Order: sequence, then structure tokens, then C-alpha cells
Amino acid sequence: MELAEFREPDQPGFTRRTFSEPYQRSRAWVKELMEAAGLQVRTDPTGNLIGELQGEAPELSQIAVGSHTDTVAGGGRFDGMVGVIGAIEVARLIRQGGQRLRHPLLVADFLGEEPNRFGLSCLGSRAVAGQLSQGHLLRPDESGETLISALLERGSRPADLSEGLWQPERLHCYLELHIEQGSRLQRAGIALGVVTAIAGIHRAVITVSGRPDHAGTTAMNERRDALAGAAEVVLLVERLAREQGEGGSGVGTVGRLEVSPGASNVVPGEARAWAEFRSIEPAWVQDRHLALEAVVAELAARRDLGVSIDWVSAEPPVACSEGVRQAIQEALEGLGQPSLELPSGASHDAAHVAHLCPMGMIFIPSRDGRSHCPEEWTEPEEVALGVAALLATVLRLDRRDTV
Ligand code: GLV
Ligand code: MN
Ligand code: MN
Repeated sequence: MELAEFREPDQPGFTRRTFSEPYQRSRAWVKELMEAAGLQVRTDPTGNLIGELQGEAPELSQIAVGSHTDTVAGGGRFDGMVGVIGAIEVARLIRQGGQRLRHPLLVADFLGEEPNRFGLSCLGSRAVAGQLSQGHLLRPDESGETLISALLERGSRPADLSEGLWQPERLHCYLELHIEQGSRLQRAGIALGVVTAIAGIHRAVITVSGRPDHAGTTAMNERRDALAGAAEVVLLVERLAREQGEGGSGVGTVGRLEVSPGASNVVPGEARAWAEFRSIEPAWVQDRHLALEAVVAELAARRDLGVSIDWVSAEPPVACSEGVRQAIQEALEGLGQPSLELPSGASHDAAHVAHLCPMGMIFIPSRDGRSHCPEEWTEPEEVALGVAALLATVLRLDRRDTV
């Protein structure tokens, strides 16, 4: 709740977007919390906050635990925050109990997990996994500013990204506690979820170019209306996403639309749509990707519009590792807690760290499945149980030599 007080005053809900001033200030607060928990804190070249607790055997590989503290516009108070504050609390409890882990513990507050104005998500976790490319850094926002210049302005050191890479041989495993952001746990009446896999996401910016004209004098059959074309794109994404077998997990969304010049008396000359498809079935997402290109080409020809698709990212689904899942299950049994296995339709930093080491996630309930909105809520007791599960899992994995 204290972290939620850092918010953008001109935005709805609990908004703290990546390059905003409140986000910048909030991370000084997170850093202090990490220090108070006894962690040695550094900010890496990307802008990830990393706290470290030494282990008994410094030569052993690290157990990493983390999440993010940025939000979507109009977001809530739990998505990501629970994982970061929960990980700090795990470190604090370990120290307070006078315990010492065998392995070093890393607590990460990854920079910018939510998609930003450059269209890219998971900046910090991509970077530690070596997946923040030159192409990503050069992505422009609407005003033409590039991601690299926004990073520089906020104190990151993009030229030194290689110094911040995490080494697979130095990592024992990665764990993330997160709210479910859906309603399966609540419906099952179960407080803890063991994640099986994280959905893959293909994201695109679709630019539709027509011709701006006088809205009073240009006859309907003479128009090349970019927004009317983009409106069809919205419905095509919806139609393609509905094409799946019974029980399919695929979804498709256009979450943002921009129209230019944007006046009621001008036929829109250009429109941009931000679209995504997600599923835990890789073939389905790949099929949607190709199908969208085909239907959009047909639409462009039929309406005499220019349409280009810029695929911003195309992440395959990621399975959680067997070893970490088993450790979570055993930890929950040890706590006398029933659990539910479930996939994640939301994306997470964990999907990127999974390229480096065994990865697992623990979910706690989201009231009525609401998330990415101000109503996002998880009961304090459920958060506490999630943190207890995270701690028990860390302790279990710490005893193992391999995961
Ligand atoms: C992250 O919140 C996502 O978009 O799944
Ligand atoms: Mn989110
Ligand atoms: Mn999140």
C-alpha cells in the first residue's frame, strides 16, 4: 500500500509506468526496503535493482527471486509488487531467523516489465538474459524518441549491458511469486497455485495508411479511410483469436489505437493498432501471426490502403521446470496447503530468466480474477501465505545441489 502511493497524478488507478518520475522515486524506496532487510543492493546497467544475501558457500550458484514494480496505465497494487516485496520479506525472514542459506540469494526488482511506450515489455529481465537487442534499443516512441535515449535519461547505462548479464552457470534457479490475474484459484477455493507454463506472446504494431481528406466534401467512394481499415483489423484480430478448439487457451487483443490527424472533420490519414496474440500452444500463436499477415494484406488491397505489420516481439511459451515445480509442491505439502496446477496467460519476467536456469512460479488468488485495473486485490492473508510458500520453496531448493 505504501508503494502504491508512488503514482502518476494525472493517470487513473495506481499508475506507475516505467519511465515516469514516480516510478523512479519508488525505486529508491524499494532500495531502502532491500537494505533494511539486510541485502547488499546494486543497480545494474539496465536499471534492475538487485539485492544480494551472502550464502554459507559463496562458490555455490545463486538462487534468484524477483518480479517487477512498474504498472500498466490504470493498473493496480499487486501485479509484480507482491513478488518483489515478497522476495524482500523472504530475505528479511531468513536473516531474522538467524538462518543462513548455503547458496547466495539474489532479490531482483526488474526494470519495466509492462509494455512501455516503445512497445516492449520485460526490459530488465530481457537484459539479464541477453535478449535486449540493438533493434529493441533503437525502437522509437510516437515522438521519435528511442528506447536507448529514454534509458540514458533515467540513469541506465545501455552501453554496459554486457556487465549486467546473468551467467547460467552461476544460477541455481529462479522463483517468482505473483498474483494469478485470473479467477481459477478463487473458483477452486484454493489459495496457492503452482504454475506449469507461461503463455507465449506475439505483439505487433500495425500501421494503416490512407489519405487525409475533407470529411464534408470527399464522397464515400473516394475515401481511403485509415481508421475504417484499422477498425477491420480490430475485428480480424478478434475473429482469428476465436478460431480454436474447445477449451483452447488462446487470446487476441487490440489494446491501443492511435488515429491521425485525429479531427472529427478530417478523414483519418493514418491509424496504428497495437495487437497481440497469446497462448500456451506455440503452433496456435504462430498460426495467428501468419493468418493476420494474410488477412491484413487482403484488407489493404480491398480498401486501397497501405498496411504494414511491425512484429515488436514474438516470445514462445515457456514451461516451468520440473525440478522447481516439484520443490514448490513439496513446500506446499509441508505447509499443509492444497495447491492447484495452472498455466499463466499473463507474461512474466520469469519467462525470460527461464532461458538461463530452472524456473518456477507460485500464484496467489486475484479477487474476481481482476487485474490490470485499480480493483486488483488479494487478501493480506493470501499474500502472507504466498510469501510463506516462497520462503519454504527457497529453503527446500537451497538444500539441493542440483534442481
Ligand atoms: C504482463 O502483465 C502481461 O501483459 O501479461
Ligand atoms: Mn501486468
Ligand atoms: Mn506482472
